[in-house]
Amino acid sequence: MRWIIDFLNSSIGKKIIVSFTGIFLCSFLLVHLSGNFLLFRSDQGEAFEVYSKFMSTNGIIGFLEIGLALGFAIHIFNTLRLTLENKRARPVPYAVNKASENSSLTSRTMFYSGLLVLSFLIIHLKSYFWEHRIVGSDLTMYQSVVESFKDPVYGGFYVFAMVLLGLHLNHGFESAFQTLGLNHKKYTPIIKFLGLLFSIIVPAGFASMPIYFFIYQ
Ligand code: HEM
Repeated sequence: MRWIIDFLNSSIGKKIIVSFTGIFLCSFLLVHLSGNFLLFRSDQGEAFEVYSKFMSTNGIIGFLEIGLALGFAIHIFNTLRLTLENKRARPVPYAVNKASENSSLTSRTMFYSGLLVLSFLIIHLKSYFWEHRIVGSDLTMYQSVVESFKDPVYGGFYVFAMVLLGLHLNHGFESAFQTLGLNHKKYTPIIKFLGLLFSIIVPAGFASMPIYFFIYQ
């Protein structure tokens, strides 16, 4: 038992947990994006409503949602612990710190892009999850999404948040596999390329929704 606690409190233990939860959250993004593509069907939101009802009433999905909430919480909690640890270990920055030569911009801004994605998530959950599942709304989920994206400020905020999500995923994807030991002459460039594809396609897919509804509704 002691070794588990030691592992969870070690630096590498925290990094491994952040990596696993990060990969798990990436898989959620893929599922969420695929479901949201139903918004584009020209059926006045019928298919999206069936999907949305299923997601909010199915018992197994309810169980998976607890796992998802835990995934987010554990990912954020351990990232905060690692960031604080790094700050404590080096309270004064190096006198000569050519950060741009030592690391990429995306890696240096992971904490901030993560924080902004979290702010997006809070606003996002308030708009749909909270308003529908907790408060209750007269609108269908489809109507809510379409109505909210008519507002250029709200839609613009989504597009901006997706750029940050892209930056966060771009470094996170590659770094997660590196932490998990995948550092190989042949496979690392492939992982890097897949990370680049993922960090462009997924946020662009999400961003296409507010843009589409702003233009066509
Ligand atoms: C244009 C983009 C997006 C749209 C239209 C959208 C739409 C929705 C809707 C309608 C719900 C409520 C589902 C329900 O309660 O039945 C929801 C839930 C959720 N969304 Fe999004 N979403 C978008 C992007 C994102 C992104 C980028 C993230 C993560 C960074 C995200 C994370 C979540 C989470 C965690 C939930 C709650 C989980 C759940 O209800 O199953 N969404 N989204």
